[in-house]
Amino acid sequence: MKAIVVGSGGREHALAWTLLRSPQVTEVVCIPGNGGTARLPGCRNVAMAMDEVDAIARCALVNNMAFVLVGPEQPLAEGLADKLRAQRVNVFGPGADGAQIESSKAWAKDLMADANVPTAASAVFTDADSAIAYVEQQGAPIVVKADGLAAGKGVTVAMEKSDAIAAIQSAFSGQFGAAGERIVIEEFLTGQEVSVLAVTDGQTIRPLLPAQDHKQVGEGDTGPNTGGMGAYAPTPVMPADLLARVQSEVLEPTLNALKAKSIDYRGVLYAGLIVTPAGDPKVIEFNCRFGDPETQAVLPLLETPFEDIITACCDQTLSTLSAFKWKAAASACVVMAAEGYPGPYKKGLVIGGLDSAEADEDTVIFHAGTRMAQDSAQGTAQGTVKSTGGRVLGVSAIAPTFEAALAKVYSAIDKIDFPGSFYRRDIGHRVKGMASGMEGN
Ligand code: AMP
Ligand code: GLY
Repeated sequence: MKAIVVGSGGREHALAWTLLRSPQVTEVVCIPGNGGTARLPGCRNVAMAMDEVDAIARCALVNNMAFVLVGPEQPLAEGLADKLRAQRVNVFGPGADGAQIESSKAWAKDLMADANVPTAASAVFTDADSAIAYVEQQGAPIVVKADGLAAGKGVTVAMEKSDAIAAIQSAFSGQFGAAGERIVIEEFLTGQEVSVLAVTDGQTIRPLLPAQDHKQVGEGDTGPNTGGMGAYAPTPVMPADLLARVQSEVLEPTLNALKAKSIDYRGVLYAGLIVTPAGDPKVIEFNCRFGDPETQAVLPLLETPFEDIITACCDQTLSTLSAFKWKAAASACVVMAAEGYPGPYKKGLVIGGLDSAEADEDTVIFHAGTRMAQDSAQGTAQGTVKSTGGRVLGVSAIAPTFEAALAKVYSAIDKIDFPGSFYRRDIGHRVKGMASGMEGN
């Protein structure tokens, strides 16, 4: 079986790597892929843009690809899955209608209200004056969210009313373009955040192992938000009984509400949850795709052939698949980023030591922002890996215990020669001391 993965991040490297672990999968084509997928045996990068629908469809049909797995939200929101399906390509990923669950926070809030899914109280505004009046009445802390996709930067958690008002004014002054023409103002929730990535064929929905990530750049969860600086799975914050509640209180009602709108949703439904101090799960966001870097932590634990899960979602046979099998182990992923990230950072940094860092069979380095340097004439040897992004590598490892997985990750990082990079040394600090329950599931 051959398949296409669309995207170029660490998540897509992990998706391709997981597919290729199965002997059934003989080739994965990444469109466009990155330096890590270029190095991955069995994987081939094809330099197409993610909106070149006809070229992607031709690549899928001519090469008899079993499916196209779309990684990022932007092409899904722009209807890539619909356009490929219209050309009779099997796609994992919702159409633009279903992707609204991520591309419009107001739409997602309405859906949650329809489905009676527990979430923060909220109101939607299309002008600054009424939004500010609402904040004056509600007080702080309060959360201001641009309605549309804003590359993870559209949310302000305002501890003071003045911060909320500033966020409202900047959204309506065009900071997020069309994405900020409508905003959602939401009740501030406290508690630990957990990412539950569930797969669905539109009829049946099943969660993968719950994970946690670290969004903030600084140790102790300080500083600005990033795309994610590290993740681990499973997490003791979401034991099996709580996950069962997420299934019955969040995932199933949401899928039913999508069905009630005649939306045929085949792909990932990612529930970003807060477990409140009372122990209740509440949704803070939905995403229509795999999480990054959660995927890099979750998938190394998967024992069920990944292509079986993807195929079952595409073919609407998920209910016939036996329960997903997971390694009885713990997994962690730590992101190495270019100095300066999430602010301005340098690109083109040379990365060495990858082979020795990956020598351990339970350690894998997922590339996020890298490329293979092509040009030896410019003094760079063929095969040199260079950075192209802010988040550059995700170093993942599995081990019988969470502590051992983290120790493997940090020992691999020590072997990577990557001047001009940094990483957090405290990934998992929120669950240290809660380790029982991290082992197995
Ligand atoms: P989102 O893009 O919706 O995931 O929001 C980004 C981050 O803002 C989340 O990961 C949370 O840390 C925080 N956040 C979002 N909504 C809330 C909320 N209602 N209460 C507290 N924190 C929130
Ligand atoms: N790790 C957060 C996200 O993928 O949105």
